[in-house]
Amino acid sequence: MTQVHVVYAHPSDRSFTREVLDAFVGGLDDAGHSRTVSDLYAMQFRSELSADEYERESGHRPDARVPDDVAGEHARLDAAEVWAFVYPVWWADCPARLKGWFDRVWTAGFAYKPGTVRAARKAFVLCTAGYSIAELEESGCYQAMRTVMVTDRIGARARSSEFVVFGGSVQRDGAWAAVKAEHLAHAAELGRSI
Ligand SMILES: Cc1cc2nc3c(=O)[nH]c(=O)nc-3n(C[C@H](O)[C@H](O)[C@H](O)COP(=O)(O)O)c2cc1C
Repeated sequence: MTQVHVVYAHPSDRSFTREVLDAFVGGLDDAGHSRTVSDLYAMQFRSELSADEYERESGHRPDARVPDDVAGEHARLDAAEVWAFVYPVWWADCPARLKGWFDRVWTAGFAYKPGTVRAARKAFVLCTAGYSIAELEESGCYQAMRTVMVTDRIGARARSSEFVVFGGSVQRDGAWAAVKAEHLAHAAELGRSI
């Protein structure tokens, strides 16, 4: 049994991204893993760094306490062996709410200096995209998104990472139904096989 913390960012329950979340979590449940989910829109997680938080991170006030919502995320991440981020690609990146989660939750002492930061066994990045993977590779966005999320934001904070794009959702024609079913089966399998 593995403890997993899932960070989910989509404003609507009626979204493909929500279905990917449900499939992944269903896979975790099927395999007997336990999990916490931070649904950043449902929690109304604040994405803007305050002046106090900025001053702590920039070293002007290194001893300042982190806010309670940030401490809550630290506790859920600390308790988990595996982390997962589930979100839609918006303008070649994650939604601003999740970007702000990194701004606020990746604090000094937790995510970087001083000393060694705690590393998860594995991090999953599961994102949905309107473009297909081939189109995202052709434009360079696939490589850019992977570099930003996996190399930079996760980096050494996980001993291994898996970056999965569930692409092609803008073609909502006959072909999409089959592609979507494959994506959801893949998400469930990822959850079962962590
Ligand atoms: C504001 C916005 C920006 C988007 N930007 C991109 C993008 O840069 N690349 C892409 O492949 N898809 C983009 N999309 C499409 C979404 O990635 C796609 O609709 C989503 O991943 C799956 O749909 P869902 O909203 O039903 O979960 C964008 C959608 C929205 C609403």
